[in-house]
Amino acid sequence: MEPGSAAGVPKGGQRPLLSLLFLRQLLLQLLQLPGSCARATGQPHIVFVLADDLGWNDVGYHGSSIFTPHLDALAAGGVRLENYYTQPLCTPSRSQLLTGRYQIHTGLQHQIIWPCQPSCIPLDEKLLPELLQEAGYVTHMVGKWHLGMFRKECLPTRRGFNTFFGYLLGSEDYYSHKRCVYIDALNVTRCALDFRDGEDVAEGYKNIYSTNIFTQRAIDLIANHPAQKPLFLYLALQSVHEPLQVPEEYLQLYDFIQDEKRRLYAGMVTLMDEAVGNVTRALNKYGMWNNTVFIFSTDNGGQTLAGGNNWPLRGRKWSLWEGGIRGVGFVASPLLRQKGVQNWELMHISDWLPTLVNLAGGHANSTKPLDGFDVWKTISEGSPSPRTELLHNIDPGYVDISPCPGNTRPPSKGDSFPTTHSTFNVSIHAAIRYGNWKLLTGYPGCGHWFPPPSSYRIRKQPSHDPPTKNLWLFDIQRDPEERYDLSGKHPSIVKKLLARLQYYHKTSVPVFYPDQDPHCDPKATGVWGPWM
Ligand SMILES: *[C@@H]1O[C@H](CO)[C@@H](O)[C@H](O)[C@H]1NC(C)=O
Ligand SMILES: *[C@@H]1O[C@H](CO)[C@@H](O)[C@H](O)[C@H]1NC(C)=O
Ligand SMILES: *[C@@H]1O[C@H](CO)[C@@H](O)[C@H](O)[C@H]1NC(C)=O
Ligand SMILES: *[C@@H]1O[C@H](CO)[C@@H](O)[C@H](O)[C@H]1NC(C)=O
Ligand SMILES: *[C@@H]1O[C@H](CO)[C@@H](O)[C@H](O)[C@H]1NC(C)=O
Repeated sequence: MEPGSAAGVPKGGQRPLLSLLFLRQLLLQLLQLPGSCARATGQPHIVFVLADDLGWNDVGYHGSSIFTPHLDALAAGGVRLENYYTQPLCTPSRSQLLTGRYQIHTGLQHQIIWPCQPSCIPLDEKLLPELLQEAGYVTHMVGKWHLGMFRKECLPTRRGFNTFFGYLLGSEDYYSHKRCVYIDALNVTRCALDFRDGEDVAEGYKNIYSTNIFTQRAIDLIANHPAQKPLFLYLALQSVHEPLQVPEEYLQLYDFIQDEKRRLYAGMVTLMDEAVGNVTRALNKYGMWNNTVFIFSTDNGGQTLAGGNNWPLRGRKWSLWEGGIRGVGFVASPLLRQKGVQNWELMHISDWLPTLVNLAGGHANSTKPLDGFDVWKTISEGSPSPRTELLHNIDPGYVDISPCPGNTRPPSKGDSFPTTHSTFNVSIHAAIRYGNWKLLTGYPGCGHWFPPPSSYRIRKQPSHDPPTKNLWLFDIQRDPEERYDLSGKHPSIVKKLLARLQYYHKTSVPVFYPDQDPHCDPKATGVWGPWM
């Protein structure tokens, strides 16, 4: 990570060429007969590929030893988002992607939606696919939903997607597509199929790796897409979340990785990279690429317990350290004004909704108040991001479900920092970014630095913060690894950011995190699905 050198990407030299391209584009647009195809309406196809648990250090272009040639090439020809944030977990990131709103405004601040919780993304939220439908798009979702399914009204087909094909939960077996869940109230572990085509159970896919199935469906949708309609395809891959499973042939590349989890994970990443290559090839083959905005994003940082890696960033999935939230992401499209650049402007997963709805010529004025910003000019032209502040989260009930090795931190008690000017309770798990400054409070989650497994040059670097420490301030641009806490040096910035946290805390809706409902039990049907 060298923000300095990246910021120095020569933009000026490309301008003449870019404006020529722009003129050509304009000319082509003028020559286009009105109504002849989606191009004439100015509505690009939007293909959004969301990877699951892909870490910062898990793509070739970040220096990983994992091979991702397709991602590298697409990113190199597009815009790499290097100051781009997601949420630290699946459901939260997906909820913000589809609502454009922070979790403190939807009640989903705490953890994920577990299979038997009677919860889903609130039904009064208007979702991205609904807005794109209103703008005239055909909307398809393939892959992992993970935004709740206890009632039929929660299903993707009822939330704006014309079609859905995939998983309603998370953590399925890649081949059997079953998910095993322990149901407390029944004291039983139930394994059942989690695979739907629309609202019907999808049978006949046993023993086929999910990423291949999802990719094939995506390609079929592209191949059969009516030329006169703009397409929104949301491909939420299971890759590369655990369980660590991959066909043998993908492991052959990775003899040099001794750590078994990392080796399996590396194979999974390379298979996913191939899947992305297949999808973009299909977009080319069917003549859609030149009018497509292709977005690739992870949903959160890598899980170091399951092969993922975020080195040199601190922490991992489930934490508010950079390793949990600084996301791999890029945009590739012939429609970008500038290409082949790294973009270091601040962006967040909640920004996609307004960005894509505007790009689609739609209206986001029927949603609840958005927390996201339209960042298209920032991505396409490199103009400054409209986003100067980013609330990472506030979760008063945070629990680290996969505790840090060697860190048996008790629940935080009291303040270790003079907070006389703030009413924000610094024992609460929260983090906020303002410009280059990031403030964390409470227990942010595992704070070690995990080097890539099988790299014997570097050892794991445990955090030496005392377990009761509950306030940090970092200058993320100069210190992206969060090694130098500056909270003692800059009390006025601390005070300002605590006041911002308190402001957000006051606008939070209560956490909605219901108990498991044993009626979720799929014993009778053998399939997970709506039970209410
Ligand atoms: C749960 O079931 C297991 C066996 O399946 C049994 O050993 C255990 O005592 C049960 N626990 C409770 C709380 O009923
Ligand atoms: C990509 O396409 C090739 C050629 O059709 C196929 O063999 C391969 O399995 C596909 N990979 C994935 C992950 O879908
Ligand atoms: C986009 O591709 C289609 C099909 O290949 C072609 O007819 C059209 O002219 C292309 N448009 C532009 C702007 O390149
Ligand atoms: C949203 O804006 C569009 C265009 O300005 C307008 O036609 C539409 O009525 C607005 N919708 C709402 C719900 O305000
Ligand atoms: C501060 O937050 C912690 C963690 O959420 C909580 O346990 C504690 O009761 C809070 N203290 C006050 C004074 O609200």
